[in-house]
Amino acid sequence: MIGSELQAQCAERRQRLLADLPADALVLLSAAPTVIRNGDVHYPYRQDSYFWYLTGYPETDAMALLVPGSPQGDYLLFNQPGHHAAERWSGKTIGPTEAKTIFQADAAFALDVFPEIFAELLLGRQAIYFALEQSSLYQLVMTGIETALQSRVCDRSQWTLHHVSPLLDEMRLIKSDYEIQQMQRAVDASVLAHRQAMQSAQIGHYEYHLEASILNTLVQQGCRSVAYPCIVGSGPNACVLHYQKNYRQIQQDDLILVDAGGEYAGYAADITRTFPASGRFTAQQRDLYQLVLQAQQAAIDCIEPNIYWDDIQTIVVRILTTGLVDLGLLTGTVDDLIATHAYLEFYMHQASHWLGLDVHDVGAYQCAGQSRVLQPGMVLTVEPGLYIEPNCQSVDPMWRGLGIRIEDDILVTNHGAQVLSAALPKTLDAVEQLVRHGL
Ligand code: GLY
Ligand code: MN
Ligand code: MN
Repeated sequence: MIGSELQAQCAERRQRLLADLPADALVLLSAAPTVIRNGDVHYPYRQDSYFWYLTGYPETDAMALLVPGSPQGDYLLFNQPGHHAAERWSGKTIGPTEAKTIFQADAAFALDVFPEIFAELLLGRQAIYFALEQSSLYQLVMTGIETALQSRVCDRSQWTLHHVSPLLDEMRLIKSDYEIQQMQRAVDASVLAHRQAMQSAQIGHYEYHLEASILNTLVQQGCRSVAYPCIVGSGPNACVLHYQKNYRQIQQDDLILVDAGGEYAGYAADITRTFPASGRFTAQQRDLYQLVLQAQQAAIDCIEPNIYWDDIQTIVVRILTTGLVDLGLLTGTVDDLIATHAYLEFYMHQASHWLGLDVHDVGAYQCAGQSRVLQPGMVLTVEPGLYIEPNCQSVDPMWRGLGIRIEDDILVTNHGAQVLSAALPKTLDAVEQLVRHGL
C-alpha cells in the first residue's frame, strides 16, 4: 500500500504539522517493532498509527525526524539498508534510497548513524515531541541523547519533553476525503462479512465457524487484518463485552452477537449486529432488541455538527432506562434510575467512540472541562447495548443471559450524519429475513 495518493496525504499532514511547530521543536517518531509470537514466528506486522499517519511507511526498523529548518531538511528518515542474505528469506525491504524517492524524505540515513545525527540535531532544540511507547529503537534514542549531553553544548534542562498526542490527535480526529474513502472500504468489506456470517449461522455450529466466515470475507475483500479480534458471542457469551474465545456451540434459542471490523489501508471498521441463530427472535429477545435499536436510531438521528458528544450517551441512557422500566427490568422513576446510575447493571459502556486508524481512535472527548462538540469530518460509532447476566437475580428468569449490541459507523457531515454501515440490515424483520433466507 505505497500509493502516491497516500504519500500526497502524508506530505500534506507533515506540512500542516511543520507550519504549527515552533522553530526550536523536534518531532521523533518510530516504526512499530515486530513482536515475537513464539519460536521463530512473529505476529503479523502492524505499523504504529502515528508513524503511518505521517510517513505512510509500512515496515519496521525505521525512525522519522521532523526538524524545522535543519540543514539536512525538515523531514529525515532512518532505516536499514537491505541485506541480500536477509532479503533472501523475507523479500526486499525499503532502504535509504526508497526513503527519499518513494517516501519523500529530504534526507535518508542508515539507522546506525541515528544517534550521531540525532545528537547534532538536538543542539539548540527545546521542545522535543516523541511517541516511542511501541519502539524497539529506544536504545538508539538514548545513545543520541547521551551523546548530545556529553558534547557540553547541550544541557538537559533546556529540553521540554512532550508526547506527540497534542500535535497529532486533533489532526487525526478530522478525516480527509481520502481517509473517508479508505474507511468506507473497510466498512463495506465488514458489512459483507457480517452479511455472509448471518446467512451462514447454523444451530450446532460453533462460534468459530462464524469467525472463519468473517475472516474469509474480509481477506477476500482486501482487508488483510481485522481491526480488532472478532467477537462472536452466542447465548450468554453475548453478555461478555469483549468476548473473544469464540468456541461455544450455538444452541437453538441463542442470540448471537457479532462485533467485527476489518482494517483497510490502516483504517478500522467497527460494526456489531445481534441476531437469532434460528432466524426468529423470541418474545423477550424481540422486546430488548427493539429497545436497543430505538436507542441507537435516536442517537444517530441527533448527530449533526455542534451537538455535544456526550449527548449521544445521554439520549441512549434515557431511552434504555425508560424501556427497562416499561419491561419491568428496573423499578422506580426514570429520573431517579438515571441519577443513581441504576441502568449500569444492564448497560455499562459508552455509546460512542472515535474511529480511524485505531478502532478506539485518538482525539479528546472533553475540551476545557466540557464535552466536545461534533464537527464535520469526525467519524464515530454509535453502539448502545443491553446485557442481562445469566445469573442476574433482580430480573425474571426469562430475561437472563440475553446480550444485545447494535453498532454502526457514522461520519459527521455538514448537514448531519452519514451512516457508513447503513447497508447492513438491523430492523427486526430485516435481520430475521437475512438469517433465514439470505435476503
Ligand atoms: N469492537 C470494540 C468496540 O466496539 O468498541
Ligand atoms: Mn466500538
Ligand atoms: Mn465494536
